Amino acid sequence: MRIAVIPGDGIGPEVVHAALPALDLLNHELGLGLSYDVFGWGADEWLATGVGLPEGALDMLRSEYTAVFLGALGDPRVPDMAHGREILLGLRRGLDLYVNHRPNQLPDGLVDIYRENTQGLYVGVGGTVPQGGGVGVAVDQCVYTRQTVENFVRYCLDRIAAQGGRKVTLVHKANAVPHTGRLWQEVFREELSRHPGLTGTDEYVDAFCYHFVRTPMRYEAVLAPNLFGDIISDIGAALMGGLGLAASASICPETGFGLFEPVHGSAPDIAGTHRANPYAAVMTLVLLLDHLGHRAAAAALRDSLDQAARTDATTPDLGGNGSTEEFMVAVLDRLPMA
Ligand code: NAI
Ligand code: MG
Repeated sequence: MRIAVIPGDGIGPEVVHAALPALDLLNHELGLGLSYDVFGWGADEWLATGVGLPEGALDMLRSEYTAVFLGALGDPRVPDMAHGREILLGLRRGLDLYVNHRPNQLPDGLVDIYRENTQGLYVGVGGTVPQGGGVGVAVDQCVYTRQTVENFVRYCLDRIAAQGGRKVTLVHKANAVPHTGRLWQEVFREELSRHPGLTGTDEYVDAFCYHFVRTPMRYEAVLAPNLFGDIISDIGAALMGGLGLAASASICPETGFGLFEPVHGSAPDIAGTHRANPYAAVMTLVLLLDHLGHRAAAAALRDSLDQAARTDATTPDLGGNGSTEEFMVAVLDRLPMA
């Protein structure tokens, strides 16, 4: 299986190149049969050529690769993140990666957040009516098709049930945003009826935020439309202990294609200082290995990562004195085959 590696900008290449030796080692020792190619898409290429996602890139990825491992995009020289939007949104929409999964490993347990990644308020339907020199009226429409909601909810519930989960919470705001809210509630109820082992509840997103911060272990698995999912995922990252820890997977269940990336951005404030925490990037590889069916490799990497995170080799964001590279030495040393 082939993986396309996109290191990107800022600390993206730092954490990606720090994490890849772990993949190399597992691949070699466990005979996983993985190979990867590195693509230099990002700010430098954009500034030099005006190209973010090259023509034909989506077809190439679809036909020759199973997954993308991406670092981060974002560069102060491209103030509106135009290249990042072209690449990231291009991949998410072009490859129909409509399920975004973020596992939140909290002090007392795991809370999985699943966010619908392609529709809702992010469809870009709307416009403005001018007034004076500015905007008088602004409209952004929230659009959901039953097909997308069904596909999303079905995939998530099947997966949660297969992993032995018991409790699922749907987050919505059906009291104030009634039309899409009703569609989500309706589909959620229908799909739940196929899973007698799962108990479903639904909560207004504002109440959810309150409870998630105060008592996160109320939740096991959470399903959310695009905008609510975006917001609650960042609360999850904060509860985990910071952006340096959070990883995400964007999946197209029909093709099995996945885009795996840390949640953090390119962190230009610390780029080049060896302080970037590679934990999220390594955790991203854990998700990637798991998705490709290499469960033992994923578990081994995850164990060594968690052990390394309990040493003083952690990077400054976690209170340690380690550099990106020193933390990775601690991870690699703890892999069983090292
Ligand atoms: P950011 O996530 O890059 O940084 C926020 C803060 O967290 C900074 O103080 C940074 O130093 C720290 N931080 C982030 N990752 C870290 C890590 N691995 N280790 C240690 N500290 C870490 O978000 P920010 O500053 O809002 O955005 C910077 C650039 O990244 C912007 O251009 C933004 O558009 C882009 N961005 C890209 C994303 C992506 O590629 N998916 C996601 C978020 C932002
Ligand atoms: Mg976000």
